[in-house]
Amino acid sequence: MPVLLELVRAGAHLAPRRLTTKELARRLGMSQPTAARRLADLQERGLIARRLGPRDRNISLTPTGLATLRSLHLELSAALGEKPRAMELVGQVVSGLGEGSYYVSQEGYRRQFKRELGFEPYPGTLDIRLDKTSLGLRATLSELPGKRIEGFKVPERTFGPVVCFPAILRGTRVAVILPSRSHHTDVIELIAPKNLRRSLRLADGDAVKVEVRI
Ligand code: CDP
Repeated sequence: MPVLLELVRAGAHLAPRRLTTKELARRLGMSQPTAARRLADLQERGLIARRLGPRDRNISLTPTGLATLRSLHLELSAALGEKPRAMELVGQVVSGLGEGSYYVSQEGYRRQFKRELGFEPYPGTLDIRLDKTSLGLRATLSELPGKRIEGFKVPERTFGPVVCFPAILRGTRVAVILPSRSHHTDVIELIAPKNLRRSLRLADGDAVKVEVRI
């Protein structure tokens, strides 16, 4: 953990940073072989990525590394009584496969959305492709409890459970919905009482910020 923290101080969560083992050891007050071992261990656990060449020694935090730190941050904040209330995810509006309306129209989901979120969603989902910098947060979000929407069966098929989080998009009330079993994708889906493309004049490629209540 001290090594990860030092990498954050060096800005390795923002962009790859050139940092030698020697320099890292000096900053952490540990021997060079110890620092080298810690780095190798973090890399093996998928928390950092390194490009080691004769000249290049770039170190960056991976999305998993970032998610680990974010989770720790949330946990510490909660323990210290300073639980952050919102998480900001940034990305771009994209078109999906046109399946959102099929799912959101299901009565089994609709009545639960109404109960848990207090609104009847417009039948569809607005898809947001997250920027790289938000992927760690997306991973953290999928670890949080959120509001659970139970799965259900209709004669032809089964619909799985989903988790939702109330959120705000450009001042409008929305909810992020995530499949309950974590799912590796950089796209999040939003539902809202209204058609967001129309009410907020959104088009594919528009940059948006989603403030998720957690
Ligand atoms: O596949 P995709 O998610 O793009 O489509 P859909 O879920 O079937 O939704 C139909 C259209 O309405 C899409 O263009 C969505 O982006 C849009 N939509 C919206 O603007 N606001 C919502 N609350 C839900 C969907």
